[in-house]
Order: sequence, then structure tokens, then C-alpha cells
Amino acid sequence: MIFGIGIDLTEIDRIKNELKEHKDRFCKMVFTEKEIKYCESKKNSAENYAARFAAKEAFFKAIGTGWGAKLKWKDVEVKNDELGKPGIILKNKARKIIEKNEVTNIQLSISHSKNYATAVVVLETNSNN
Ligand SMILES: CC(C)(COP(=O)(O)OP(=O)(O)OC[C@H]1O[C@@H](n2cnc3c(N)ncnc32)[C@H](O)[C@@H]1OP(=O)(O)O)[C@@H](O)C(=O)NCCC(=O)NCCS
Repeated sequence: MIFGIGIDLTEIDRIKNELKEHKDRFCKMVFTEKEIKYCESKKNSAENYAARFAAKEAFFKAIGTGWGAKLKWKDVEVKNDELGKPGIILKNKARKIIEKNEVTNIQLSISHSKNYATAVVVLETNSNN
């Protein structure tokens, strides 16, 4: 069963500005070390950063708690497998919320172009509640 879905569209220019104005602060708040390493290895890294930003936003929408739950950006990590397929790894409070809601699987799809990055998250559950 599907527990929830979330979608986000992020303007690359918005992320580019953040990276230009205060990269250290922005990256430290939003991205994990592994995510930063991945993005920095790419040619147009703002696209990859924006895609991860979109993925985190999409996750927050899928779980449906909004900002009230005070989830941290870095508790939602995007990790690509050996074929490049992205997935989500959860830590701390984000992980607890998922467990509490009996979400058993998380699907993530990402796309980015020159101007926009987008991400869709699907949360699956075996529970009928
Ligand atoms: C993986 C693929 C779908 C990416 O599509 P794209 O149009 O180049 O790029 P997009 O911006 O839409 O998507 C990029 C994202 O795809 C995701 N992606 C990469 N490999 C993936 C895979 N194996 N499975 C699922 N998603 C994948 C990544 O999240 C990537 O973004 P990231 O590097 O920031 O994480 C494409 O390169 C591909 O390999 N297609 C396979 C089919 C094929 O080879 N067709 C050619 C013959 S017709």
C-alpha cells in the first residue's frame, strides 16, 4: 500500500545563489558530507545539490508532518547506488517517524536540467491502518 507521496520542484538559480552567498553555512545545514562529496564530483554541481534539496522537500511532503515535526534536512540523506539510482537513508527523528508510521519502503526518483530539479518520493507500507 502507498502511505504517502511527495513532489518538489526546485529552481537551480535559487540553490546557485545560496551556494554563492554562503556555501559553507548552507551546505552544513542542508547536506550530509556524503551528499556534498557526490555533488562536488559532478560538473554542474548546483543541479545535483538542487535535486537533493528537492528530494528532501518531497520526503517531508510524503510523510505529511510539514515543518511542525522539526525534522532536520540532514536526517534525510540521498544516496545513489552503484548504477546511479537514488535512494533515501533516514536518521534520527526522520527515521523514528517512518518507523512509527510503519513505512516499509521508500522510493525516490530525481531529474534535473539547466533551470530546475525535481524529485518524487513514494512511501510504502504493509499496514492497512
Ligand atoms: C539514468 C538516466 C535515466 C538519467 O536520465 P537523464 O535524462 O540523463 O538525467 P535526469 O536529470 O533526468 O536524471 C538524473 C538523475 O537520474 C537518477 N539516476 C541515475 N541513474 C539511475 C538509475 N540507474 N535508476 C534510476 N535513477 C537513476 C539520478 O538520481 C540522477 O541525478 P543525481 O545524479 O543528481 O542523483 C539515463 O541516463 C539512463 O541511463 N537511461 C537508461 C536508458 C538508456 O540508456 N537509454 C538510452 C538508450 S534509448
